[in-house]
Amino acid sequence: MQDDRLISSSLQEDDAKNEYSIRPHFLSEYIGQESVKEHMQIYIEAAKSRGESLDHALLYGPPGLGKTTLAGIIANEMGVSLRVTSGPAITHAGDLAALLTNLSPGDVLFIDEIHRLNPNVEEVLYPAMEDFALDIIIGKGPGARSIRLDLPRFTLIGATTRLGMLSSPLRDRFGIKEQLELYTPESLKEIITRSADILRIEIDEEGALEIASRSRGTPRIANRLLRRVRDYSQVRGNGVIDLPTAQGALSMLKIDELGLDAVDRKMLIAMIETFRGGPVGLDTIAAYTGEDAGTVEDVYEPYLLKLGFIARTTRGRIVLPEAYRHLGYPVPVTVQQDRLEV
Ligand code: ADE
Repeated sequence: MQDDRLISSSLQEDDAKNEYSIRPHFLSEYIGQESVKEHMQIYIEAAKSRGESLDHALLYGPPGLGKTTLAGIIANEMGVSLRVTSGPAITHAGDLAALLTNLSPGDVLFIDEIHRLNPNVEEVLYPAMEDFALDIIIGKGPGARSIRLDLPRFTLIGATTRLGMLSSPLRDRFGIKEQLELYTPESLKEIITRSADILRIEIDEEGALEIASRSRGTPRIANRLLRRVRDYSQVRGNGVIDLPTAQGALSMLKIDELGLDAVDRKMLIAMIETFRGGPVGLDTIAAYTGEDAGTVEDVYEPYLLKLGFIARTTRGRIVLPEAYRHLGYPVPVTVQQDRLEV
C-alpha cells in the first residue's frame, strides 16, 4: 500500500529520522498514557530490585502512538540493550534463532507487527519465551534428533495493532499486556511543545493546541504536522507558529478542524449518500477508499469511532449524527432514532 497521506499514522521515511531525534528516553519524559506508564514503572522497579529480567510485554493499539518509543524507554530504564525487528522481517526460524542467541542477559528484543510472524517462527518463539531455550532439530527422517540450547533470560516486547490476529498461545505467553490509547489534544499539545523545543521551532500555546487538535490523537501525525506548519510559517509568516499560521497551514493541507482529510470525508460521504448512513460492510468501505480492509479497521476507524462519527454494529458500520453535522448534512430523522439504540 502506498501510504503517503499527511495524516497517515504509518511510519514514513522522514518521520524515522525525526522521531529518532525527538524520542524520549525515560518514562518521566513520556507524555500521556498514564496508566501504562504507572504499570510499567512498577514492573520495572520490581524486576530491577529482584535483579531479574522484566516479564515479556505485549503493547497493542493503533499505529503511531509510540510503541517502539516505549520499548526503547523500557530497555533504557532496565539498563539493558534493545534489539529491534519486526514480524515480517523474520522469515525463517533460523533468523529468530540468530537474534536470540546474540542477546545478552536481560536484553529487550522488540518485535513490531508481531501478528505477522510466520507460524514456523512462532513455534520457535514459544520455548524461547517460556523456558529460555531453543529446540534445534538435527538431521532429517528417522535419525533426526532434537537438542536444547539454553538462551539468556531476555525480555520480549511485542507490538501489534491487531490483538485479535495474535494466536492465543502467543498472547498467553506475555505476562504484561498494555493497551495504548489515542492521545487527548492536551497531551499532544505537550508532545508538540516538547518536540518544537528540541527542534528549535518557535511556537505559542494556541498554535500548538491547533496542531494537536488536528492530529487524530496520534503523536506521529502531530510531529509530522509540526514540521509542515514550520515550513509554512517560514515562507508565509515570520517563522513563529501561532494560531493563524497553524490554521492557514493546515487548511492549505486540507486537514479540517478535527484532523479529517479528503479520504475520511470521501468515506463518510459515501456512507451517507450511497448507503444512507449504513450499515455498510467493512469490505465495501475499503473498496470505496481504495485501502485494504485491515488498514481501514486499524488506521482510519479508531479515530472516527473515538469522535463518535461512526459505530460498529454486527451488520456493518453506521454513521452517527455528529458526522452528519460536521460534514454539513441534515441528520435524517431515521438516523436520529436508530442511532439512539447503538
Ligand atoms: N513522542 C512520541 N510519543 C511520545 C510521548 N508519548 N511522549 C513524548 N514524546 C513522544
